[in-house]
Amino acid sequence: MVLCGTTDRTVAAYDAPAKINLALHITGQRSDGYHLLDSIVVRASFGDRIFIERAALDRFSIVGPFATDLDDADPRKNLIVQARDALRLVTHEAFAVAITLEKNLPVASGVGGGSADAAATLRGLTQKWQSTITHQQMHDIALALGADVPMCLNSDPMRVEGIGDEISMLANAPILSLVAVNPGIGVATPIIFQSLTKKKNPSIALPIGGWLDATAFIDWLGGQTRNDLYAPAAAHCPAIDDVLGALCDNGSLLARMSGSGATCFGLFADDAAAQNAARTIKNRHKNWYVQAGQTLTAAPQSQ
Ligand code: C5P
Repeated sequence: MVLCGTTDRTVAAYDAPAKINLALHITGQRSDGYHLLDSIVVRASFGDRIFIERAALDRFSIVGPFATDLDDADPRKNLIVQARDALRLVTHEAFAVAITLEKNLPVASGVGGGSADAAATLRGLTQKWQSTITHQQMHDIALALGADVPMCLNSDPMRVEGIGDEISMLANAPILSLVAVNPGIGVATPIIFQSLTKKKNPSIALPIGGWLDATAFIDWLGGQTRNDLYAPAAAHCPAIDDVLGALCDNGSLLARMSGSGATCFGLFADDAAAQNAARTIKNRHKNWYVQAGQTLTAAPQSQ
């Protein structure tokens, strides 16, 4: 979105789409405590947005429906600020920038909000600063910011392994209609990982030849995959089961938790079914975050 004509006063907007773990298997644990994952990850057609413009001094501000949930936090701990500073270290002409985060996603909710914001900042500033860093440098900076940040540099469906840093694209994954629902309760990821009783679970066996259509993809996800963090998360936050129940009661073909929760997603036959379900759930649960959309198959947009 170009608001002004001159280079100095141009505000560029970058999408930071929600990250959804359609499947999340925990397959082991490293000696440093980090867990090994095997996950099917998609990005959604909704999420946060980052606005970047040249400024006299670095500034960072937060607007949007969930801005107040971050108001008390130390801005230096925000992954956006950390991403800016890390990229500046390897960029020649890294002029001062004003960054505004439009916080549309609930905080600490299993849809990668902070990681998506950091990845969008890296993409945006690389463009704005005309940084010439390599793909590997970008990956390394992202990983140093958090295990989920490298995957958020991509927008196509992917399989993610390692601690979140081994990424392979799933070229033929069909687009899905979905609804994301969060009961308004933040869940701390480290506590959920620590509460896991079984850390070595079977990995994902991808079907040879992929999936014929969205129905086949959903059937396979429901029959062959899981979210291993669901049990500890639901024990910690019983409202997760209320959310899954609401999605099932409103026609979802598969309802499951994303990441370490508490956000859950429902997969639907089509966009109309997803939008109907979102309307009904929002009417019954006014305090819940409810968002219908689709899975992405193209690069996040910058305008
Ligand atoms: O890397 P990040 O800071 O996003 O991870 C947050 C926390 O989640 C880690 O400190 C760790 O406790 C847990 N985690 C994990 N294994 C992963 C990713 C995260 O145990 N693969």
